[in-house]
Amino acid sequence: MSLNLGSSIYSVAPLTALFTISTALLLSVASVAHAESVPWQAPGAETEKLNPVRYDVESVNMGKTLFATHCLQCHGYWGEGDGIVGLMSDKRPANLLVLASEQSPGAFAWKIAEGRNTMPSFRGTLSEQEIWHVVNFIASLENEVGSAEQSIVVQRCAMCHGLSGKAIYEQWPDLPAMSQQEIEAKLFAHRSGIIADSTMSKVSFDLTDEEIKEAARYYSSLNRSSLNEED
Ligand code: HEC
Ligand code: HEC
Repeated sequence: MSLNLGSSIYSVAPLTALFTISTALLLSVASVAHAESVPWQAPGAETEKLNPVRYDVESVNMGKTLFATHCLQCHGYWGEGDGIVGLMSDKRPANLLVLASEQSPGAFAWKIAEGRNTMPSFRGTLSEQEIWHVVNFIASLENEVGSAEQSIVVQRCAMCHGLSGKAIYEQWPDLPAMSQQEIEAKLFAHRSGIIADSTMSKVSFDLTDEEIKEAARYYSSLNRSSLNEED
C-alpha cells in the first residue's frame, strides 16, 4: 500500500489493526466450533478412578443442591441440556442423563474439574469431595426421571417455573393461580406466535397439543398454597 500521502498513514494503521482483530476472532470462533464436534475423552487413568464418596441419599441430596447452583442453568433440571442458558444457545450442552449410562464416574469427575469450551472448569469452585457428590447426583437422575409423573413439566417447564409453579423470577406469572383452560390458551397462543417474541414462544414452539394439555393439567391441579412454600 502506498504511503505517499501523509494523511493516509492515519487511516491505514487502524484499518490494519481492525483486520487483524477480526481475523483473530474468526479463527478463534472456527477453532471453538471445531473443538465442540470432537468427542470429549477423559484420560484413561481418570476414567478408571472409583468414586470415593458413598452413593447414598445424603450424598445425592448434597449433589442435587450443588447441581442446582452451578449446573442447572445450562444442563437443565434433569441434566438433559435444556437449562435456560442451554435452551437459548445454538448448541445445547451435553445431555448428562444419556451420558451417565455410557461414561464412568471418574470420567465425569475429571470433566467437571477440567471444563471445555463454554463449560467452565469447576476446579477452583468445587472441592473434590463436592464434585463426587455431583457425580452421585447425576447417577441418580435416571431413576428419578423414570418415576416422574410430570415428565413433560420436568423436562420443559420446571427450569423456569419450578415444579411448584413458582417462577424463578418474581415478574413471571405464578402458574397454579391460573385455570387449566387459561394455561392451555396461553400456551397455544405463544406456540402459534399470536403472542410473538416472547420467551414462551421460544420454549413452546415444538410442544404437541397433548404435551401442552399435560403441562396445563399438572400446574392447574396444584394447590395455590404451594406458592408460599420454599422452592
Ligand atoms: C455455561 C454452561 C455450563 C455450565 C454452567 C455447566 N456446563 Fe457442563 N457442559 C456445558 C457444555 C456446553 C458442554 C459440552 C462441552 C464440550 O463438549 O465441549 C458440557 C459438558 C459437560 C460434561 C461432559 C459431557 C461429555 O461430553 O462427556 C459434563 C460431565 C458436564 N458438562 C457436567 C457439568 C456439571 C456437573 C456442571 C456443574 C458443576 C456443569 N456441567 C456446568 C455447559 C455447561
Ligand atoms: C426459559 C424459561 C421458560 C420455560 C422453559 C417455560 N416458561 Fe412459561 N414463562 C416464561 C416467561 C419469561 C413468561 C412470561 C411471558 C413471556 O415472556 O413469555 C412465562 C409465562 C408463562 C405463562 C403465562 C403466559 C401469558 O401469556 O401470560 C404460562 C401459562 C406458562 N409460562 C406456562 C409454561 C409451561 C406449561 C411451560 C412448560 C411447557 C413453560 N411455561 C416453560 C418462561 C419459561
